[in-house]
Amino acid sequence: MAKVGVLTGGGDCPGLNAVISGVVRSSIHHNIEVVGIMRGWAGMLECETVKLTRNSVSGITCRGGTILHTSRTNPCKKEADMKKVIENFTKMGLDALIAIGGDDTLTVASKMYDAGLNTIGVPKTIDNDLSGTDCTFGFDTAINIAMEGIDRLHTTAESHNRVMVVELMGRHAGWIALEAGLAGGADVILLPEVSVSMDDICAIIKKRHSGGKSFSIVAVAEGFKLGGKEVLQGQEVDAFGHVKLGGIGNYIATEIEKRTGFESRVTVLGHIQRGGSPTAFDRFLGLRFGVKAVELVVKKDFGKMVAKRGNDIVAVPIKEAVAKLSTVPPELYEFAKIFFG
Ligand code: F6P
Repeated sequence: MAKVGVLTGGGDCPGLNAVISGVVRSSIHHNIEVVGIMRGWAGMLECETVKLTRNSVSGITCRGGTILHTSRTNPCKKEADMKKVIENFTKMGLDALIAIGGDDTLTVASKMYDAGLNTIGVPKTIDNDLSGTDCTFGFDTAINIAMEGIDRLHTTAESHNRVMVVELMGRHAGWIALEAGLAGGADVILLPEVSVSMDDICAIIKKRHSGGKSFSIVAVAEGFKLGGKEVLQGQEVDAFGHVKLGGIGNYIATEIEKRTGFESRVTVLGHIQRGGSPTAFDRFLGLRFGVKAVELVVKKDFGKMVAKRGNDIVAVPIKEAVAKLSTVPPELYEFAKIFFG
């Protein structure tokens, strides 16, 4: 009987449990033993595993988070850690390892494949910034939560004649701010991909208010740069070299109030966008990704990532998928601008 390991790495994301369920149910179907690796790549370094059965995945598809827990451990930082992962793969008696994660986790999976491990990738991120797939699971849930947040800000903004700035997740790609902003009727949308000056932001708001409106909503991605610079919470970086973003919403709200005289407030939606139960779309996509990952294990088609292309779930080389990020193209931002103000 073949044996497969499954891990979840990086920031959690609604739909992870659906993928795990897809992997386990499909493995049982193919008579493959499945073992859960706890806390992402940390579990591969420490051999922290859990046996996964039909019972362990019963009722988890609707639940947010990940039953396998997660970490941002990067075993590729040290050669000794990479070796340990390979040793432990053999020690655990694994034939294949399914890594569910974003750019960082999948880059590790790709390097481990090059080092001789039979890895399969499953793309996860609420940011939706992975190439090679039309979309990632978790994104649909995140934009619906963000949209609901913006809807709620509208009524209080209107009652108080205020400018409400809502800071949304999106480190390098502004997909959440773009789609939730448009769906929620934001008057200004600010993305990491596009440079907009404080003068331009204030001009849009002033024009709107001089046209008879007495409130505005600004949706800003946490990675939006003013004068080419991100706003950071501190200087520390994680194992993948990422800084902790946060604070751009507050900065913009303060500047708007100072420059326009309109009373402004900021709301940071933060991890609310990542928590809680997934939408039906993310659950279904997660189940399909999980089943496809096991199909690749059965076919011994390693070094691949499952991906959505149109209505199909296909396999693409992990290396290609992590080679570049999927960001909002300029023409989509031009389209969004039609709805500004
Ligand atoms: O990568 C997904 C993401 O949600 C980013 O949008 C955000 O910058 C980051 O994770 C925050 O992660 P954490 O606070 O869990 O380290």
